Amino acid sequence: MENTAAKKVMLSGIQPSGDLHLGNYLGAIKNWVARTDEFDNYYFMADMHTITVRQNPADLRRRTLEQLAQYIACGLDPEKNTLFIQSHVHQHAELGWVLMCYTMFGELSRMTQFKDKSSKHKENVNGGLFTYPSLMAADILLYQPDFVPVGEDQKQHCELTRDVAQRFNSIYGDVFKVPEPYIPKAGARVMSLTGPDTKMSKSIPEGCVFLMEKPEDIMRKFKRAITDCDTENCVRFDLANKPGVANLMSIYAAVTGKSYEEIEREFEGCGYGKFKPAVGEAVVEALRPIREETERLLKDKAYLEGVYRSGAEKAEYVANKTLRKVYKKIGFVAR
Ligand code: TYM
Repeated sequence: MENTAAKKVMLSGIQPSGDLHLGNYLGAIKNWVARTDEFDNYYFMADMHTITVRQNPADLRRRTLEQLAQYIACGLDPEKNTLFIQSHVHQHAELGWVLMCYTMFGELSRMTQFKDKSSKHKENVNGGLFTYPSLMAADILLYQPDFVPVGEDQKQHCELTRDVAQRFNSIYGDVFKVPEPYIPKAGARVMSLTGPDTKMSKSIPEGCVFLMEKPEDIMRKFKRAITDCDTENCVRFDLANKPGVANLMSIYAAVTGKSYEEIEREFEGCGYGKFKPAVGEAVVEALRPIREETERLLKDKAYLEGVYRSGAEKAEYVANKTLRKVYKKIGFVAR
């Protein structure tokens, strides 16, 4: 492992509560991979967060390992990135409790993810769902990162993390680095293909493209993607009036690296009938190597086990240093 002492730190995580999709990839993972060499990186499977909603235990275990294989297949080299499973590093739960005592009821009540999930799962509005952002703050602050690369929907949680860190620091001195969210230009908010007013998520599978999905299924979803009911039928970036086309353009921009102007020129005079399958094909080609490499890695359980074990060791070393400091500052007796 190279010397990372002088590097800035990046950290992020994804819940293995469903199969990874294009939103996770473009909003988060692609950005992690792009900056691998510049930073000291920590990326984890946020399994502890998933149980705020009931999970099938066998599925959770399978998806956690699949997610690790997908992180690597997307380009996160385990030699350059610390990849670990959140529940393997017990300091997350411990700092989570401490930070819960420094997060206000009013702050937690304002979180949109809590409002969304509590309305979707009315039968199970549990304490964990409500205090989730304090655990997320702990996930982040344990590693003293400079940047937290996430999609737009996690910005509110990152801002709360900053507020909690600043509140704690104002009482006890500089304990936590106050991190910045790091949000991509294209792909920060990938919308559903069935309606550009909702974000792409596993809860609407027809509008969601999964990383492991077969090419023919991906093509079908893109061909059926909702575009706009304007009469113009022209590929032009106009978020307010043509949100469906804007969504497809931002997906195309994120996977090809092209600018909106370049895309408009490429499809000038073509209409949506040509544009939609072209976006589908670009996505299929971007995901093909990821799917193939994931399938290969999943056959090598011993390798994956080695990665998450050494990841947990390295993560725990860093997390423990922060937790000891916190315990000392708040007045807990050292053992
Ligand atoms: P989660 O698991 O819902 O999503 C993981 C990442 O994917 C991004 N994302 C999207 N980006 C663009 N368009 C979409 N449609 C889309 N859907 C999801 C999310 O913004 C996120 O970056 N609370 C977090 C997980 C977490 C975490 C952390 C993240 C737990 N601890 C510490 C960062 C740092 C969550 O529920 O993300």
